[in-house]
Amino acid sequence: MQDLIAKIQARAGAAPVKLGLILGSGLGHLAQAVQGTAIPYADLPGFPHVGVSGHNPHLVIGDLEGVRVAVLGAREHYYENGNPAAMRLPLTVLKALGAEALIATNAAGSLRPDIRPGDLMLLSDHINFSGLNPLIGEKTDARFVPMTTAHDAGLRAGLKASAQSVNVALPEGVYAWYSGPSFETPAEIRAIKILGGDAVGMSTVPEVILARFLGLRVAAISTITNMAAGMSDEQISHEHTKAMAPLGAAKLEQVLRHFLRTQL
Ligand code: HPA
Repeated sequence: MQDLIAKIQARAGAAPVKLGLILGSGLGHLAQAVQGTAIPYADLPGFPHVGVSGHNPHLVIGDLEGVRVAVLGAREHYYENGNPAAMRLPLTVLKALGAEALIATNAAGSLRPDIRPGDLMLLSDHINFSGLNPLIGEKTDARFVPMTTAHDAGLRAGLKASAQSVNVALPEGVYAWYSGPSFETPAEIRAIKILGGDAVGMSTVPEVILARFLGLRVAAISTITNMAAGMSDEQISHEHTKAMAPLGAAKLEQVLRHFLRTQL
């Protein structure tokens, strides 16, 4: 771990970063907005070999709106190799680089008629619909992570204020993690709705758990790419997710830039 941090700092500089970001499907290009150093995951031992198209597998460290950030341009999802802890090392690296907080982003399907493709949703909370946990196998008592306030109230208030300032709607809702890679059935979506889910996706929840384990404050934002299965006549596909993500990505970039400029 020390070697890895030394290697990263030799390339990107040793000044501490303040915030970590994880970019979701179709959002990887946001990393290009950061002025700094992009290090391919392939150069970082233990980083995932991300094989999902629409992701940008670089660790980018540098300045965004005057704040030093570390951006994970791609994530490994549970469905790639069956490892819910795949992002543990990258998140541990963010923490070691100085990050105090993490903002995770993802693409998701909406269960709420008032939250449409192209919209953003701020996670007020989440449901682990997968039953998996990235801390299974962790031996220390630190594994018993409280999740009562996992989605940080202060970060959420800041993000909402920024969204309002740039005139982007940012409703809050509950995100349900479905393992993927197949999409949900309409019956599963009805079940998730009864359980209290507002959006569904294949990521983010393991990273929120890991980030809380590491002592990072966390907030997460979904870009809605489709209505969830059975809620519209539209075909649900990864192609569609990638095609729709840029709509939300433009709004997300505005909100994040304003947040960094004014709230950190
Ligand atoms: N379900 C799961 N994951 C997703 C969806 C969806 O409908 N849309 C984008 N990612």
